[in-house]
Amino acid sequence: MAKYRIAWLPGDGIGVDVLEAARIVLDKVGLDAGYIAGDIGWEFWRREGDALPRRTIELLEGVDAALFGAITSKPAKTAAAELAPALQDRGLTYRSPIVRMRQMFDLYICLRPCKAYPGNALNFKEGIDLVVFRENTEDLYSGVEFAPVPRELADMLGKLAKPFTPFAKLPLDQYAVSCKINTRTGSERIVRAAFDFARKRKRKKVTVVHKANVVRATDGLFLEAAKAVAKDFPEIGMDDANVDAMTMWLLKNPFNYDVLVAPNLYGDIISDLCAQMVGGLGFGCSGNIGAKLAVFEPTHGSAPKYAGQHKVNPIATILATKMMLDWLGEGSKAAALENAVAQVIKEGKVRTYDMRGTSTTLQMAEAIAEEL
Ligand SMILES: NC(=O)c1ccc[n+]([C@@H]2O[C@H](COP(=O)([O-])OP(=O)(O)OC[C@H]3O[C@@H](n4cnc5c(N)ncnc54)[C@H](O)[C@@H]3O)[C@@H](O)[C@H]2O)c1
Repeated sequence: MAKYRIAWLPGDGIGVDVLEAARIVLDKVGLDAGYIAGDIGWEFWRREGDALPRRTIELLEGVDAALFGAITSKPAKTAAAELAPALQDRGLTYRSPIVRMRQMFDLYICLRPCKAYPGNALNFKEGIDLVVFRENTEDLYSGVEFAPVPRELADMLGKLAKPFTPFAKLPLDQYAVSCKINTRTGSERIVRAAFDFARKRKRKKVTVVHKANVVRATDGLFLEAAKAVAKDFPEIGMDDANVDAMTMWLLKNPFNYDVLVAPNLYGDIISDLCAQMVGGLGFGCSGNIGAKLAVFEPTHGSAPKYAGQHKVNPIATILATKMMLDWLGEGSKAAALENAVAQVIKEGKVRTYDMRGTSTTLQMAEAIAEEL
């Protein structure tokens, strides 16, 4: 029997292409694993009314880790309209399966390293090496949303919140409410994960990203929790910044930052910015990590216009594979894979379209496998 059971979730569009590429390097690196295919994505929503079917949840309950490609998501009304005729009018509501997976398995850490590999012509600046810790289960992604707004909620808000007064006059179908919910436990544990990482990797500073000057309740709690956790890590510096200023500072002085930690939405935004500084979506990798399970993925989506063309860059997914190897405790395989990626980038002979080359997805994977 293989040492590891890995759930294999290609999903939609280019998710299929990039996972095919990941398999080439995994086979070459010689991971002793069984890969079990799982259903996820748009087709399962259309055909079955569930983008994350029960059988996939059961698969995830029994694996060591999962590698995930990408899914197509669409707004609620479009999603409902695309359901198979037999499923129409059943009141099914589409929710992103990756967001559901994160919440269902309590994958509370979204870890996004953003490293400029030397010689990548797409680097914003050479030497950038940022690591983003994004809280992954709470905040504006809680899924507690109302459109139209129920009467009881409007009445309650009218009674409890003075700033609600201008909205109270509106018809209930003329506004919507999405709840930003942040817990003390959720805030503390993501900040602790960032500091633990900084300690283990000998990083110098953790920057807490928030908007506590305006979003006082939830971001105030996040910042307060962060300051309390930081006291347990006296050897690591801590500072904080408002998310809007952070985007500006990151572009201006990326070398002033090291490890960044943020609530869900801000983390999502700044990690895309950081990914762009090290080559763009073809390089952005991500780990959704909980106590028992971790799901690794590229940060990009399903890019439908490139689906099945084997044109996109698989490096993001291959770096996510490297993260998976690290998480499984296969540090030397992870390091070898990262070196191989760095070598191919440095040589610059094999380049996909985003790197201004003509190599295919699989040619890139094969070049990396050859370096191993
Ligand atoms: N985690 C996920 O699965 C995830 C993340 C983001 C978006 N999505 C979904 O994906 C679909 C398409 O969304 P989108 O077009 O906004 O974003 P996207 O990330 O799919 O693609 C945007 C553009 O980025 C470029 N790109 C993406 N990946 C690349 C790669 N590996 N190499 C080179 N270039 C790459 C392409 O030019 C592409 O058209 C939507 O349905 C969206 O909801 C899913």
